Amino acid sequence: MLRAMHPHPRTRRLETESAFRVLARAQELERSGKDIVHLEIGQPDFATPTPICEAASRALREGKTGYGPTPGLPALREAIAEDAGGRRGVHFDPKTVLVMPGAKPAIFYSVHTLAGEGDEVIYPDPGFPMYRSVIAHSGAMPVPLRLREEKGFRFDPDEFRGLVTPRTRLVILNSPQNPTGGVLLEEDLKVIAAEAVRNDFAVLSDEVYLNFLYEGTHHSIVKLPGMAERTILLDGFSKTYSMTGWRLGYAIVPPQFFESFELYNVNLISCAATFSQYGALEAIRGSQGCVSTMVEEFRRRRDFIVAELNRLPGVRCVTPAGAFYAFPNVTGTGMTSSVLAQRLLDEAGVATLPGNSFGQGGEGFLRLSYANSLENLAKAIERLRRFLAEP
Ligand SMILES: Cc1ncc(COP(=O)(O)O)c(C=O)c1O
Repeated sequence: MLRAMHPHPRTRRLETESAFRVLARAQELERSGKDIVHLEIGQPDFATPTPICEAASRALREGKTGYGPTPGLPALREAIAEDAGGRRGVHFDPKTVLVMPGAKPAIFYSVHTLAGEGDEVIYPDPGFPMYRSVIAHSGAMPVPLRLREEKGFRFDPDEFRGLVTPRTRLVILNSPQNPTGGVLLEEDLKVIAAEAVRNDFAVLSDEVYLNFLYEGTHHSIVKLPGMAERTILLDGFSKTYSMTGWRLGYAIVPPQFFESFELYNVNLISCAATFSQYGALEAIRGSQGCVSTMVEEFRRRRDFIVAELNRLPGVRCVTPAGAFYAFPNVTGTGMTSSVLAQRLLDEAGVATLPGNSFGQGGEGFLRLSYANSLENLAKAIERLRRFLAEP
């Protein structure tokens, strides 16, 4: 009798992150001798800066290997409050900072703290796949907000207003954005803030690409009137300091939600890795030269890849203002995004992600991460050119 030996149906609502699936397939092809250019995975191709590594290894040598406080090391929470507040021109209380392994848990904590059966959560489409997955898992209804290519992958304010109902509990924003590289303007945030105050919903502002901004200035919704008490701010160390494997991120959480976040942390992870937190403290307190050097290199790559993509037949690409992704429209190739991505991997040796893995609004697009050297980007473009000449 194995009747109960199957996962609860709730688990079937979880979806995967295609970047990890495509990476596994690309690595399988590499093992069989194929040369693959990796444009699928969203992690900076730089080593974590040496002083950060040294601070973490010093912590290990000094025996800082035990559990730490559930919300994070006090010194790190203070440093985060000061740094995150300084970058956005607001004051944050260190007591509202919760450190966790990566920024991802905060998406789960936010959705589960705020929404469940009968509630609705608005999220960007195309958007980071975890949003939809986690909303569906919570029992709430995922409500996609289309980002429009013709608006530089911003949303249409009237469309947004049309999605808000009395059941809206949370709106997820991500700017600079994955997968489009789009950046929201202050006027967009004002539209959302006005609706949030009028309809009493909260906002999860995912700002993990804050430092990867090539044009304009970063605006955070947390700064707008009435928003400090209803915004959960999400950021981390993965992208900014090239620390994806350190698993370290944080949320800045209004007091009324903080206890729930802390309970999720203690139930799921106890605390983030202690020595990673010492590394992160150095990341914030040390010189920021490593960040600007990396961002300048990303800008060069962006300019190169966007110009080259726009020269390919059947391809057009909006210049992304932020993050490190190009999101070209490939409808002119006559192939769906899944077919094109699959064929590029198998036949041309270029790993990309199909736009539809970021939601229906991504159909007709590919995501190319330019977290790879200019030399490899040139190689990928050459392969794309050859493939598209004789598809
Ligand atoms: C928009 C967005 N939010 C959150 C994350 C998660 O980052 P972390 O590695 O800190 O969990 C990512 C990672 O790709 C992302 O693209």
